[in-house]
Amino acid sequence: MSTPQTSQLTRRGFFGASLGTALTTAVAPTAFAAETSAPAVFPETSFALNGVDAKIYSKAIAEPVRVLQISDAHLFLDDERGADYRDYSKRMAAAYNKTKHFKTGADTNPIDELTKTLADVTPEKYDAVVLTGDILSFPSAAGVDFLLEKLGATGVPYYYVAGNHDWHFEGLPGPSADLRAEWTSKILAPLYPKGADPLAHSVDVKGVKLLLVDDSTYEILPSQLDFVRRELAAGLPTALFMHIPLYAPGRSVGYGVGHPKWGAATDGGWQIERRERWPEAGHTETTFAFRRDVLAAPNLVGVFTGHVHLSSLDVCEGKANLTARAAVDGSTVKIEFLPLV
Ligand SMILES: [Fe+2]
Repeated sequence: MSTPQTSQLTRRGFFGASLGTALTTAVAPTAFAAETSAPAVFPETSFALNGVDAKIYSKAIAEPVRVLQISDAHLFLDDERGADYRDYSKRMAAAYNKTKHFKTGADTNPIDELTKTLADVTPEKYDAVVLTGDILSFPSAAGVDFLLEKLGATGVPYYYVAGNHDWHFEGLPGPSADLRAEWTSKILAPLYPKGADPLAHSVDVKGVKLLLVDDSTYEILPSQLDFVRRELAAGLPTALFMHIPLYAPGRSVGYGVGHPKWGAATDGGWQIERRERWPEAGHTETTFAFRRDVLAAPNLVGVFTGHVHLSSLDVCEGKANLTARAAVDGSTVKIEFLPLV
C-alpha cells in the first residue's frame, strides 16, 4: 500500500496556487476514505439544463465554479513527426476536416473552431477547462503542440482525459490498453498535469472535486475503481469527467461503460477502426462495479462525457449524466457549480 499523500502539482508552473487547486492522482493514492466518508444524506442538490449548458446547484457548494467542457474536437493536425504513421492515421485525418458551424451552418473546421473557442476563454470567465477526449483524431505531436499553445494562452487551468481516438493509430496491432499506455506516454503526456496519472486523477477547484477518469477502452481498471472510491469518500461535491458515457437504460453501446450488452457481439466498429475487438465476455466486474458505485455516491453531482457527439441527458439513480455535442462544429458546454441558497 502506498503512503497516503495528497500532492500540490502544477503543469509547467503556470497554474495552481492562484486558484487554490489541489491535484490528486492515482499514482499517489490517498487513504482518507475510512476517516472522512461522504455523508449518507448529502445536502440538497439540483440540476438545470439551459440548451446544452448545465447548472448544478448544491448546498454543499460554497462558491461558483465555472467549467468549460470541450469534447471530441477531432483535430487532424499533423506534420513530419507523423509521417511514418500516415497509413494508420489517414482515415481519421479526413473524417472531420470539413464541418458546418453548429449555429450558422457556415463551412468551417475543427482547428478554426477550437482556436476561436479558446481565444474567448479567460480567467474572468472560467475556473477550469475540461477536455473530455477525442480532442485529437489520432496521436499527433503537432496536435498536442497546438493544444498546449492555445490552452496555455488562456491562463485558465485545463484538464484532459483521453478518448478512444486520441491514442489510436488504426491498424497498429496490440491490446487497446497497451496501445493507450504507449501513445499516451509518447504523445499525449504533456497534456496532463505534471505527476498526474493519466488514467485517474482529480483536482479540487474552490471546494468542488473534478474527477478525471480515462475510460477510453470502455473498461475500468481495478486501480481506477480504487482511486475513485477513495476520492468520492472524501465527501466533497464531485463531478466525474470521462470520454465514454456510463450506460443508461435505452441507450446504445456508445453509452458503453457498464452497458450490459457491450461486447464482441455488439462491436460494430472494430474492423473499420482496425482495433482489438471488444471481448466476448463483455465487461469486467470492475467496470460494472464502477458504474454502480459512482452513481450510488451521494456526493456525485454529475457525470460529464462526450464520445456520442450529441448533446444528451440521462438521469440515473438521480444523477445527471450529460454528454457534450462534439466540438468539431464549435460546440462547447458551460457547466456551472453553484451554491443553493
Ligand atoms: Fe469522437
